[in-house]
Amino acid sequence: MVLLRRWLPPADAAPALMALSTLGGDGYPRVRHVLLSDADDAAVYFHTDSRSSKVSELAELPRAGIAVAWPQRGRQVVAHGTVRRPTEDSLRETFSRRTRYLQLLAWCNDHEMSALPTHDRHRRWAEFDATHPTLSPPDTWTGFAIDIREIAFWRGDPDGPSQRVRFTRTDHSWTSEVLPG
Ligand SMILES: Cc1cc2nc3c(=O)[nH]c(=O)nc-3n(C[C@H](O)[C@H](O)[C@H](O)COP(=O)(O)O)c2cc1C
Repeated sequence: MVLLRRWLPPADAAPALMALSTLGGDGYPRVRHVLLSDADDAAVYFHTDSRSSKVSELAELPRAGIAVAWPQRGRQVVAHGTVRRPTEDSLRETFSRRTRYLQLLAWCNDHEMSALPTHDRHRRWAEFDATHPTLSPPDTWTGFAIDIREIAFWRGDPDGPSQRVRFTRTDHSWTSEVLPG
């Protein structure tokens, strides 16, 4: 997890984008991109809208896979684990660190808004923006910690073959193995 944090952008930079996979109720995997909000020694965190499909999928099966790639740097991280809800304090803290645009999006991105013509959506957005100079998290703001049980670091090498190092969590430590890319 120390190495993961070293590869992630610093806290004051734009968060990394990660592909997040869940299992749909029909048994087919679902994947979409979300911002990787944070990472600590146990987990990777992301935040979302409680009405979204991923939230009901994770309620059915609290397991997720992630992948983050930095093609220009020849790097990729792939991991999976079990999800849990972070604390209310941590949810609020992450919302406060989101850009103004993303805070507005968390409030305004609902079915009703999405069904409106573009001009009306822009007008409603501008009105909401003008009348809400500061925003606390909406009730629909939620997030997940993915407790990582396996994580692989992929490194490209212009002078030779790519290589991976895969770490697997055991009860109190990690085992590692080197794999072909
Ligand atoms: C660059 C980018 C960043 C995104 N970040 C998030 C995010 O942090 N949280 C989120 O819920 N959706 C984010 N989305 C939207 C998701 O990809 C997705 O469309 C949405 O969450 C609905 O997914 P679901 O219906 O599978 O749950 C982002 C999309 C893009 C293209």
